[in-house]
Amino acid sequence: MSNYHIKHLEEYFQVYRKSVRNPESYWEEIAEEHFMWHKRWDNVLSYDFEKPEFKWFEGAKLNITENCIDRHLRTRGDKTAILFEPNNPDEEAQHISYNELHERVAKMANVFKSQGVKKGDRVCIYLPMIPELAVSVLACARIGAIHSVVFAGFSSSALATRINDSDCKLVITSDGSFRGSKTIDLKGIVDEGLKKCDSVETVLVVNRINAEIEMKEGRDQWLQPLLEKAETTCAPEIMDAEDPLFILYTSGSTGTPKGMVHTTAGYMVYSAFTFKNVFQYREDDVYWCTADIGWITGHSYIVYGPLANGATTVMFEGVPSYPDYGRFWEIVEKHKVTQFYTAPTAIRALAKENLEHVEKYDLTSLKVLGTVGEPINEEAWHWYDENIGKKKCPIVDTWWQTETGGIMISPIPYSTPAIPTFATLPLPGIQPALMDEEGNEIKGNQVDGRLCIKFPWPSMARTIWGNHQRYKDTYFSAFKNMYFTGDGALRDSVGYYRITGRVDDVVIVSGHNLGTAPIEDAINEHPAVAESAIVGYPHEVKGNALYGYVILKETGESRNQDNLRKEINQLISDRIGPIAKLDKIQFTNGLPKTRSGKIMRRILRKIASNDTSNLGDTSTLLNPEIVQEVMDNVIK
Ligand code: WT7
Repeated sequence: MSNYHIKHLEEYFQVYRKSVRNPESYWEEIAEEHFMWHKRWDNVLSYDFEKPEFKWFEGAKLNITENCIDRHLRTRGDKTAILFEPNNPDEEAQHISYNELHERVAKMANVFKSQGVKKGDRVCIYLPMIPELAVSVLACARIGAIHSVVFAGFSSSALATRINDSDCKLVITSDGSFRGSKTIDLKGIVDEGLKKCDSVETVLVVNRINAEIEMKEGRDQWLQPLLEKAETTCAPEIMDAEDPLFILYTSGSTGTPKGMVHTTAGYMVYSAFTFKNVFQYREDDVYWCTADIGWITGHSYIVYGPLANGATTVMFEGVPSYPDYGRFWEIVEKHKVTQFYTAPTAIRALAKENLEHVEKYDLTSLKVLGTVGEPINEEAWHWYDENIGKKKCPIVDTWWQTETGGIMISPIPYSTPAIPTFATLPLPGIQPALMDEEGNEIKGNQVDGRLCIKFPWPSMARTIWGNHQRYKDTYFSAFKNMYFTGDGALRDSVGYYRITGRVDDVVIVSGHNLGTAPIEDAINEHPAVAESAIVGYPHEVKGNALYGYVILKETGESRNQDNLRKEINQLISDRIGPIAKLDKIQFTNGLPKTRSGKIMRRILRKIASNDTSNLGDTSTLLNPEIVQEVMDNVIK
């Protein structure tokens, strides 16, 4: 009997124990039964935490798109693979069957090939949430090119940094995108970004909004005429298990983003396995994850995980507030969505609106609700449970990261009793550990510490593109023989995990992972700025918002502060994207620093959060007197 689908808590514990006792045979059985291989692996797992190096299913040969598309054609050819819901509710939804997807991916793959893209080349995908985005991802995988999807909300310079970091040869974008009642000039952003990129030979442009755009001779081409000429089949490139499948950038504690590299076989096995179990997916379900494919959630749980299971996966181009705050629920009713997966920030934003927006719609199709991206607060959890799930749908609070490739800690519906704000139990094969600051594992229950994972799992990122040392330093150096997540967590009396938030310099704003360093770098480019420090503080809708402390140069001190604030936010918007803008900016004469000159962010975080009752010992600071001054001028 296959253990692919877990149905009871007892079964979970059984499966979990087995997965930990013998991880290799556990994953081997799953890999064997549920996927299509051209050649079997020689070795399930080899690893070395020192190097660090992790190899899963080494020696195996496969193509992930055959697993996501071809093998379903015989039994599910006419079934909808991708259900595209446009931004404008009056535009018709598109039901793209597995047969059609097969053909569209083949054509796109042939277009990429005709532009000289080969196995191992990097392709940058900078597209809105339209079918071409999923199709391009799969087309890359079809021919063994490594996709690097850049979220289409990133600015031109953030795009350029990412293109340059991995030397992308081709960029696919669109003439523009729809976002609620607005349109965004994506092609203009690409043109601006590419002024700084030498590696790009070709830009393919999807016509989405019929915009008048400039096409650069010899570089830019409209996609449609190329697709029309393309062959409708494309033989899959046969890949090694450990060949890179994609790069996805995430922010970190220094200015440059980290290009997390995911490889083929382990990622496929784990994303498919977790999709099926966490969402208790059944054949006729209509599954909808509201994330953007520009984030890992979209890679694993809009594209690869669902398609590897032959599922129908909804892709939504728009925003939750357009044409009104009922849009999500209108879509659930319209397409009879069975699993709905979103972020706490969206839940909080919708919970603030009139309940009529929910009550107008029939949500009885829903079976399982999910959340991801940041800790969910109790109030939002209950709102989701009562008003969306009508207390009948299990909620899965799924904890994971870009680096982990798939969900790590989560309830399994109908098996794990959920408790609000707890991600609950590790999925099979996942071995969490809580560590103290001295590097000892904290055993037992009712404890908290730094969350690590002490055994490899198939979908872990294998390296940072072009910088293996940084991979080692960031994830494998804080604790010996462990992967360090950057999160803090507590384990309650029954062994459930609750994620308490980041313990490093990353702030999660509206579910987006933002390193403070790149934002500070952007601010410091302003000619009037001498130094800056960014911290997060609690925000009702966004979870966290950003608070900036800025020291001005003498020349800047006479400037109008409101204008300066606008200019600083504009710079952040230009360098990173609007998601990284600061909610509050305090100008200050100094920042609390340690004797070695390091900014004491802990203190700044407390001040910004209005939590100054226990600032700790500030007497060892280089400049203890500045603390009071910063407190006196705090922006409420
Ligand atoms: C960070 C990873 C994984 C997809 C989206 C974000 C936070 C994520 C939860 C959750 C509490 C969560 C963590 C994590 N996070 N899910 N269910 N409960 N915190 O991916 O951008 O790589 O961010 O998001 O802090 O480390 P990411």
